Amino acid sequence: MGDWWLDAVLYEVYIRSFTDSGSDGVGDLAGITSRLPYLRDLGVDGIWITPFYRSPMADHGYDVADHRAVDPLFGDLATFDTLLAEAHRHGLKVLVDLVPNHSSNAHPAFRAALAAGAGSPERDLYIFRDGRGADGDEPPNNWVSVFGGPAWTRATDGQWYLHLFAPEQPDWNWRHPRVRDDHDATVRFWLDRGVDGFRIDVTHGLIKNDLLPDNPPPPSDGIPFFRERAEPHHWDQEGVHEIYQRWRAIVEDYRRRDGQARVLVGETWVADPRRLARYVRPDELHLTFAFSLLAASWSAPAWRTAIAADLAATAEVGAPTTWVLANHDVTRPASRYGSGESGLRRARAALLTLLALPGPVFLYQGDELGLPEVDVPPAHRQDPVWERSGHSRPGRDGCRVPLPWSGREAPYGFSADGVPPWLPQPDGWAELAAAAQASDPLSTLVLARGALALRRALPMLGAGLLRWRDDTPPTVLAFDRPSPPGPPGTPPGPFSGATGLTCVMSTAGTDVDLVIPGRLVLASSPVGYDGTTLTLPPDTTVWLAPHPG
Ligand code: NOJ
Repeated sequence: MGDWWLDAVLYEVYIRSFTDSGSDGVGDLAGITSRLPYLRDLGVDGIWITPFYRSPMADHGYDVADHRAVDPLFGDLATFDTLLAEAHRHGLKVLVDLVPNHSSNAHPAFRAALAAGAGSPERDLYIFRDGRGADGDEPPNNWVSVFGGPAWTRATDGQWYLHLFAPEQPDWNWRHPRVRDDHDATVRFWLDRGVDGFRIDVTHGLIKNDLLPDNPPPPSDGIPFFRERAEPHHWDQEGVHEIYQRWRAIVEDYRRRDGQARVLVGETWVADPRRLARYVRPDELHLTFAFSLLAASWSAPAWRTAIAADLAATAEVGAPTTWVLANHDVTRPASRYGSGESGLRRARAALLTLLALPGPVFLYQGDELGLPEVDVPPAHRQDPVWERSGHSRPGRDGCRVPLPWSGREAPYGFSADGVPPWLPQPDGWAELAAAAQASDPLSTLVLARGALALRRALPMLGAGLLRWRDDTPPTVLAFDRPSPPGPPGTPPGPFSGATGLTCVMSTAGTDVDLVIPGRLVLASSPVGYDGTTLTLPPDTTVWLAPHPG
């Protein structure tokens, strides 16, 4: 038996938008507790909760002022402990977010650094430098913030500090032993409370080239999704790895003491699968999101290339690939792959393929409902990206709109009636609400539940082998998940006679006929199948139990 995460499906809870147990229109910890039965029935193995720590919320919690305290907006430590205990009672693991690249500018250490002045030991915990130019009034180098604008902000005494994200998120100086020790203490604090692991923010950014050289001029079409080639001096630096070795040693130490395995999952935006795999070498993180699939276009060849490259690279270091199609930072699949009916159809097909892949999978809340991206009206936009980019990028609010749970109109059961959610929900979401979908056999929720139940029940899904089938046209992605050999004398089960499970996804523009003798297990849209010939309509995934040879 391998570690529990090797075939786990983990569900990302973007806390602000999951469920508001109170009446402020913002989701909270008690809201999550109230929905644990929903998550158990969905069939996931656990949840990752986005930051709920004390924060001024300049980046909605990714600006942490105290990493060991709960922000009153979300509850308190007692509410967290209740959530954790209840989740465990429902058989669900709980991962919390660790945000080590930066703190909030309201963190006491940053306030002390500002107050102490240039050259002080306090400033050494962050990255302060003198500016360039005669009066030092130009930033120390040309680095830009991921959210737009310069990555440097000037303090009142004239020095500049680095922030790869918003000015309210100053970057820690990870070469400083106190920064390392303080984060160790945070890791231990949450482990002592009983969490099952961490999702670690911006794992590829913690160490910067000490000399702070200018980045090359940005490409004329802008900095791409994966930034490490355009910005080679502060992403994916060699020095980050020893930090993960250190945390790995901590969780191994806990494991030795109580036998419980905790998981470290990196948010590593590195395009080259072999560079990415270096984060999951045996003494580093256990898992790291493989974003290449998330970045792939709606095309079977692009998916095959991404999947094959990720599988090969992680296999080389003995780790699984961690699949993800969405999160709170990117356009929802139902809108990314198209729009309206066609976008939803593709998102459903994508979901089914995702859940057939070997290794851990992360689902983003609302993707089990097939929610589309929302065009949040400009006056309601809250993501700092909107302001920082001078209104040229709408930001990420569109994938963060609070979930519809029930009812005919906003807030659709997200918060108490009459309380407006922190981001407005669109009209017309009643059919997408979880309660409405639960009683519709053709809904995306029922599809997701079915796929998760099968993934749990069938030994050939989850961890194990993936074997490509080369008997389909290039616009059709097809792979087998062979059955592991059963112990001798195993009685025939419902899948006896099947050689495993086959997943077939078509991104072709027209129907495709394929000869695959077997039985239909699950389909993202209606298909034609007579037990031999499968007529696969465009943008559809099926799971089949093929008959041997
Ligand atoms: C990645 C998080 O997912 C994102 O929401 C956040 O803005 C940045 N890291 C900065 O913490």
